[in-house]
Amino acid sequence: MSDRLGKAVVVIGAQWGDEGKGKVVDLLTDRVGGVVRFQGGHNAGHTLVIGGEKTILRLIPSGVLRAGVECLIGHGVVVSPTALVEEIGELENRGVPARERLRVSMACPMILGCHVALDKARELARGKDAIGTTGRGIGPAYEDKVGRRAVRIGELASPDTLRERVETLVEYHNFSLQHRYGQQPVSVDVVYEECMRAAATIVPILADIPARIHALRRGGAHLLLEGAQGALLDVDQGTYPFVTSSNTTAGAAATGSGLGPTAISEVLGIVKAYTTRVGAGPFPTELDDDVGLQLAARGNEFGSVTGRPRRCGWLDIVALRRVLDVNGVTAMCVTKLDVLDELEEVKICTSYEVDGKAWHETPVGAEAVARCRPVYETLPGWKSSTLGARRFEELPPAARAYLDRMQELAGVPVDIISTGAERDDTIVLRHPFD
Ligand code: GDP
Ligand code: IMO
Ligand code: MG
Repeated sequence: MSDRLGKAVVVIGAQWGDEGKGKVVDLLTDRVGGVVRFQGGHNAGHTLVIGGEKTILRLIPSGVLRAGVECLIGHGVVVSPTALVEEIGELENRGVPARERLRVSMACPMILGCHVALDKARELARGKDAIGTTGRGIGPAYEDKVGRRAVRIGELASPDTLRERVETLVEYHNFSLQHRYGQQPVSVDVVYEECMRAAATIVPILADIPARIHALRRGGAHLLLEGAQGALLDVDQGTYPFVTSSNTTAGAAATGSGLGPTAISEVLGIVKAYTTRVGAGPFPTELDDDVGLQLAARGNEFGSVTGRPRRCGWLDIVALRRVLDVNGVTAMCVTKLDVLDELEEVKICTSYEVDGKAWHETPVGAEAVARCRPVYETLPGWKSSTLGARRFEELPPAARAYLDRMQELAGVPVDIISTGAERDDTIVLRHPFD
């Protein structure tokens, strides 16, 4: 026991995902004993770049490259056993002892072949109204969890009952696959064998994650809770139905991990200096001009999971303010500032116009958001390089003015600025564990 409990800091994406959460979590692991994922699944793609070497993590927490940091997958995450084994294999082939560093909650619902088949069948059936999911089976797996029929990953340790449980679940879904969507059924044998192949790797790393979390904290170790996706993709508070199937907002860090809400000392909101979105759904500040293309090219905005081009647009303060409120964000980390380096001018959406009227709040649901027209404030660009800047004084005055204005409009301080994909291309004005 240590005299002082370790702190828990939640890191969330404050837009539609891909804000640079992985980079920032990895950077902050210099001060923690553990990193916990608490929602989502392998729909996430978190990129870490260290000494020019790139690693894309999907399920494994972004602490895995740091020796001495425990990586914990909490029960709020839906886990594809096949994807997990593949990711462990990729890391171990590169000499990263992933299994030594990783523990997975026994209570994680599994994503199985039937979920992937259903995800794809539903998207096909929605036609032009498709959500543009990652096709990883995320939605159907969460449905089974709340439907109380999920097969949980701890069941990999009991092959006999597992077979029965898999059979019941696959047959349940095969009915709709065949009769509702006109698709081929999924084979029970194939799904069961996939589970059994993964079991050898996964069973030894199953653990009681709440127990680990609290033991670490009692020992004085700090924790990072790593969000996936972004707040605007939250199933309740996002642009429904164009959202993911989990709560991506900070409250989920408690429910999805086993940490009590009073243990959370800070919530760090990761905000890209502009906005991107992958998949369908409304996006008021989206640019379909040369500037949008320039942002996509300079920001290398292609999905790290599916390779799809990301839609790009200006920073949206109206949406951001709501996100900061509902997540209880205590500080912002602004990423990809360098992507704006070449622009003549930069814009910030400070309000919307809806049916000719000024609007200062993000409305609820996709249809209402789709009617919002952005009203912009224009600031001068800095037309010089911020790439790799590591001290605030290195930033050109116009870039500082942009950050100041963001901070002023948002009402939350900017504590960290990321100026490149490399771990150390970062300006830390205040470390959340100080
Ligand atoms: P995440 O899902 O929030 O972890 O973000 P992704 O990894 O999907 O996408 C962020 C992309 O931007 C990755 O390719 C990162 O390597 C890269 N990146 C992160 N921070 C910066 C930055 O400050 N500048 C630039 N140019 N790239 C960055
Ligand atoms: P990270 O953690 C960006 C999007 C998909 C789709 C919607 C629903 O890397 O920021 P799903 O497969 O979850 O049912 O798809 O959510 N989406 C993401 N977009 N970054 C992500 O993760 C995403 N995870 C899901 O593109 O629009
Ligand atoms: Mg990503």
